[in-house]
Amino acid sequence: MGASGAVWQPWRLLLLWPALLGFAAGCPQQLRWPVPYRRFDDRPPTDPYCQARYTFCPTGSAIPIMSDKDVLEVYRLQAPVWEFKYGDLLGHLRIMHDAVGFTSSLTGRNYTMEWYELFQLGNCTFPHLRPDRLAPFWCNQGAACFYEGINDAHWKENGSLVLVTTISGAMFNQMAKWVKYDNRTGIYYETWMVKESPEEQARVWFEAYECSKFVLRMYQKLADLGAVFKKIQTNYTTLTLFSGEPICLGNETSIFGPQGSNKTLAMAIRDFYSPFKPYHSFKEFFINFWRIFNEVILKHEFYFFYNLEYWFLPLKYPYVKIAYEEIPLPGSSTSRLNPSQRTSANATLL
Ligand SMILES: *[C@@H]1O[C@H](CO)[C@@H](O)[C@H](O)[C@H]1NC(C)=O
Ligand SMILES: *[C@@H]1O[C@H](CO)[C@@H](O)[C@H](O)[C@H]1NC(C)=O
Ligand SMILES: *[C@@H]1O[C@H](CO)[C@@H](O)[C@H](O)[C@H]1NC(C)=O
Ligand SMILES: *[C@@H]1O[C@H](CO)[C@@H](O)[C@H](O)[C@H]1NC(C)=O
Ligand SMILES: *[C@@H]1O[C@H](CO)[C@@H](O)[C@H](O)[C@H]1NC(C)=O
Ligand SMILES: *[C@@H]1O[C@H](CO)[C@@H](O)[C@H](O)[C@H]1NC(C)=O
Ligand SMILES: *[C@@H]1O[C@H](CO)[C@@H](O)[C@H](O)[C@H]1NC(C)=O
Ligand SMILES: *[C@@H]1O[C@H](CO)[C@@H](O)[C@H](O)[C@H]1NC(C)=O
Repeated sequence: MGASGAVWQPWRLLLLWPALLGFAAGCPQQLRWPVPYRRFDDRPPTDPYCQARYTFCPTGSAIPIMSDKDVLEVYRLQAPVWEFKYGDLLGHLRIMHDAVGFTSSLTGRNYTMEWYELFQLGNCTFPHLRPDRLAPFWCNQGAACFYEGINDAHWKENGSLVLVTTISGAMFNQMAKWVKYDNRTGIYYETWMVKESPEEQARVWFEAYECSKFVLRMYQKLADLGAVFKKIQTNYTTLTLFSGEPICLGNETSIFGPQGSNKTLAMAIRDFYSPFKPYHSFKEFFINFWRIFNEVILKHEFYFFYNLEYWFLPLKYPYVKIAYEEIPLPGSSTSRLNPSQRTSANATLL
């Protein structure tokens, strides 16, 4: 591009001035739906303000190198979120956590890999409003965790532990390289999927980025490496917001920084988040959430944070849904089943 400067092309100037084209500062200059999840070069250290109540990945270890000749069984692992505290409560809502298990036939050892929030779901979904800062403060990193052992009872009892494929040690080692890349570049947890309507074909504005998406990416990676998956039904939890076309408002600097042009907007975003308390326990978070959400949705407004940018969502009926739907394993014929059979819960219901 640079070398073509010999000819005066005024339209090029326009490209340099997104504001002239009506884009807010700190927003993507080209809208694409769904908005691509942003990857970073490296993971920054977390801020000391963010303190985990439960240590992230307490028994984690580096991923070992397997013998190329090894044969590993790959398990789909799923269990209700926070089962260790609330039993099957969230299993009834079908809010499930996903992970992957590996068993080495050479050594007999087995391993679990999962991707989850460093500071739990509340902190990934809502920010802290700190008296010393104008901008909402997020503790929203997620990361991969690998550790030796599979706790069969935990996954089996109210969830699932199912063999999905068998891979070679060489494939496992390739996958481990991919996990390193994925874990370094995909940093922020995104709780919500945002769609135009509940219809299957409806436009998707944002994809979530949570535990199940990691598992799905890993299955795809294994399929790309040649793994052949069994033909079984695999359902996952998605939390969806329904909205008209989102409007990008800017990023932290452009909205809350010293050059921040619109104080009204900055205060509106703070006000929106003020009832939500991210540091509550999961159960409190959910009860609190549904109560407040019912008030919030009456205004049909949601300030949404994605890719470190703030977006305005004009919410639409049915506003929010928890679904437990099939996403087929790679390679299976992608026949989606009757959508009317989905498990769903909406704000009116709860
Ligand atoms: C916000 O956007 C502006 C303009 O695109 C950019 O210079 C700035 O680095 C961004 N700030 C953050 C925190 O991403
Ligand atoms: C959420 O973040 C706050 C602020 O760092 C922290 O005090 C709290 O323990 C975190 N919540 C959980 C469940 O980790
Ligand atoms: C499964 O759910 C039941 C009923 O809520 C609970 O008592 C049990 O502890 C759960 N199993 C595990 C492994 O947590
Ligand atoms: C992913 O990154 C986090 C944060 O740097 C680190 O604690 C974790 O061990 C990494 N996971 C894997 C599987 O390498
Ligand atoms: C994983 O290893 C443990 C300990 O040897 C064993 O109890 C468990 O059944 C194994 N699970 C799987 C799925 O291989
Ligand atoms: C400032 O933000 C408010 C609330 O989002 C909006 O109604 C108003 O039009 C904005 N003003 C300017 C000058 O952009
Ligand atoms: C799994 O998803 C399919 C289609 O999305 C649905 O028909 C089925 O009822 C779901 N299974 C459960 C246990 O909810
Ligand atoms: C939401 O709940 C209401 C009340 O139970 C019900 O009439 C409606 O069909 C539900 N909508 C969806 C999309 O599940």
